[in-house]
Amino acid sequence: MSTRVIAIDGPAGSGKSSVARALAAALGWSFLDTGAMYRAVTVEALRQGVDVSNEEAMGDLAREVQLSTLPRVSVNGRDVEDEIRTETVNEAVSIVAANALVRHQMVSRQREFAEAQPLGTVVEGRDITTVVFPHATVKVYLTASLEERARRRGEEGEASVARRDVADSTREASPLRQAPDALVIDTTGREVGDAVEEIIQWLKNKTLS
Ligand code: DC
Repeated sequence: MSTRVIAIDGPAGSGKSSVARALAAALGWSFLDTGAMYRAVTVEALRQGVDVSNEEAMGDLAREVQLSTLPRVSVNGRDVEDEIRTETVNEAVSIVAANALVRHQMVSRQREFAEAQPLGTVVEGRDITTVVFPHATVKVYLTASLEERARRRGEEGEASVARRDVADSTREASPLRQAPDALVIDTTGREVGDAVEEIIQWLKNKTLS
């Protein structure tokens, strides 16, 4: 079975979630927020008192947890939709996301999810175009100015967003990179619907050619 995927990467606050969600709705496809998966594992580690910088322990936890992102984010059956966006999690998630053992588990789950969807999946994250789905139907890299990204992230603040940019793009395991064949969209000052239209047009051109 061929898995249809629109892969979207980009830094925090670049509009990935809003654009991916709206795009999935417009196409009738499924949506997968992979950042929420790393966040949910982080929440569970903090709850269980697992040291987030203990690579092996975090790898075990990532293998064992039950994760779901829809309709709400849950871990081991517990709703963590609100908890995943706290400042404590914003800080700890970069450490968890830099763990290769955790990433290995998350990547398998992301591929399994997409394979199980009847029509297609819009997947967003940091390594989706480069590692998880390097042969995606369409690859998109979203970006925006740091000021606008921090504004979108509200209380998180510019310093925290900038810190995560550095952590996400300089880590050894699957750093955030722009795939050479990605459609690059700067969402600064643009409406979500605008970016969605541009991606749908790109998808049409791709599937017709
Ligand atoms: O998109 P987000 O802010 O919810 O992502 C949370 C963290 O998870 C972010 O700091 C980077 C990391 N992440 C990742 O490393 N790979 C992904 N595919 C998605 C998110």
